[in-house]
Amino acid sequence: SDYDLVIANGLAATATDTFRADIGIRDGRIVAIAEELEGGARTIDATAKLVLPGGIESHCHIAQESASGIMTSDDYYTGSVSAAFGGNTTFIPFAAQHRGQTIADVLKTYDDRAAPKSVIDYSYHLIVSDPTEAVLKEELPAAFERGITSFKVFLTYDLLKVEDEQMLDILTVAREHGALTMVHAENNALIKWMSARLMDKDYSAPKYHAVSHPRAAEVEAINRGIALAGFVDAPLLIVHVSTEGGARAIADARREGLKIYGETCPQYLFLTSEDMDRPGAEGAKFCCSPPLRDTETQDVLWRYLQTGGLQLYSSDHAPYRYDETGKLVHSKDPTFKQVANGLPGIEMRAPLLFSEGVRTGRISLNQFVSLTATNAAKMFGLHPQKGTIAVGADADLAIWDPDETRTVTAGGLHDNMDYTPFEGLEVTGWPVTMISRGRVIVEGGELLADAGQGTFLKRAPHEPAGLSGRTPPELDPAQSFGAKIV
Ligand code: URP
Ligand code: ZN
Ligand code: ZN
Ligand code: ZN
Repeated sequence: SDYDLVIANGLAATATDTFRADIGIRDGRIVAIAEELEGGARTIDATAKLVLPGGIESHCHIAQESASGIMTSDDYYTGSVSAAFGGNTTFIPFAAQHRGQTIADVLKTYDDRAAPKSVIDYSYHLIVSDPTEAVLKEELPAAFERGITSFKVFLTYDLLKVEDEQMLDILTVAREHGALTMVHAENNALIKWMSARLMDKDYSAPKYHAVSHPRAAEVEAINRGIALAGFVDAPLLIVHVSTEGGARAIADARREGLKIYGETCPQYLFLTSEDMDRPGAEGAKFCCSPPLRDTETQDVLWRYLQTGGLQLYSSDHAPYRYDETGKLVHSKDPTFKQVANGLPGIEMRAPLLFSEGVRTGRISLNQFVSLTATNAAKMFGLHPQKGTIAVGADADLAIWDPDETRTVTAGGLHDNMDYTPFEGLEVTGWPVTMISRGRVIVEGGELLADAGQGTFLKRAPHEPAGLSGRTPPELDPAQSFGAKIV
């Protein structure tokens, strides 16, 4: 037959177009898009369904130790399976450097964790916590050559954070290679100062985590990150934006022509700090950084997503169970300082956006595709192999039933968690059939994939990395006594 698989009669959508078409797949790629295709070894009837590019989850923590050394509950098997059931065919977790580790060691560790287990295609963003001269001069360029074209830094957490000088160094290396720097932007000193005052007054319950990470901490660090990146004319992605001030700073920088991008996450759209006000230690289930905010901020973040002011929507899946392996590892009655930061949500990311975004009319179906797949593919050097429906692209497809309603329960999800912060929500619109490189991996509620069938993706440079040409005078050879600094 002409095709290994034909997806027939569905309503397909990309970031720009919505059209009725049959899609023909051969050898793992899309080879035909037409009104009518015959000759599939197998045909899937997608009548009344949507056929979308498989989602790209570009911010998740899988088989990664927390800042204080607690292992996430999901490894590359359960993490990728949960991602697949949530409509994704690619994910990009982090490969985190601990101080003293070489980047080669870090990548070897994560290759061993990922390759035998992942059921979907994957890459990593490298977390850089120890930018020694060898790391800057040799190891980051070597990682870049391997196709790892994004580097993340933290401005908070004592064991991970980089100083401003170090961030400038990393931005400059990234700039030379066309890599994208990502930043967790919160002011470390402000958080420590607030935490000490809260603890002093015995405000130590998990819910005070939200108070200990003030909005000002995020707004200050985002503005600082933008200033540093703008200064060396390097692109910068600010992850998990949770404040109006932060989102506005990003939009302002973009208006000035800087290559600054912003991401937000479902927890900041669907939860608030009031969710943390629970008896006993239960508030720990909602401790993430930056913390949950309020309903006014939810509305603001929706508007930035709707109007393109924020370009990425990712889960920040950071799964720590509500037991002695996770949130309660230090104590059954932990202080907010003892609780591992992070919420699970890799499987809920796209369904929540569909239900509360597309079905309510807040965003179009095409914006949904941009926010769940295409924008990440372009940002992280995977487009057009991933993130769209086009002849020649990988046959990574998500077939959605736009009318199916389910009530979210922890037991109904496929991660290795014992709770979901989205418990009890009614969600309409779910991915029902998932196809990865032409292979059906989820169908009829069943997993049909093998551990290890996902492949490592060698990524291209950051697509829009071309410099703005707005080098500040201090760095401009013509204007600074002929000195070339970067
Ligand atoms: O609370 C969060 N987001 N935990 C994961 C680590 C990080 O900050 O990215
Ligand atoms: Zn992280
Ligand atoms: Zn973070
Ligand atoms: Zn994160």
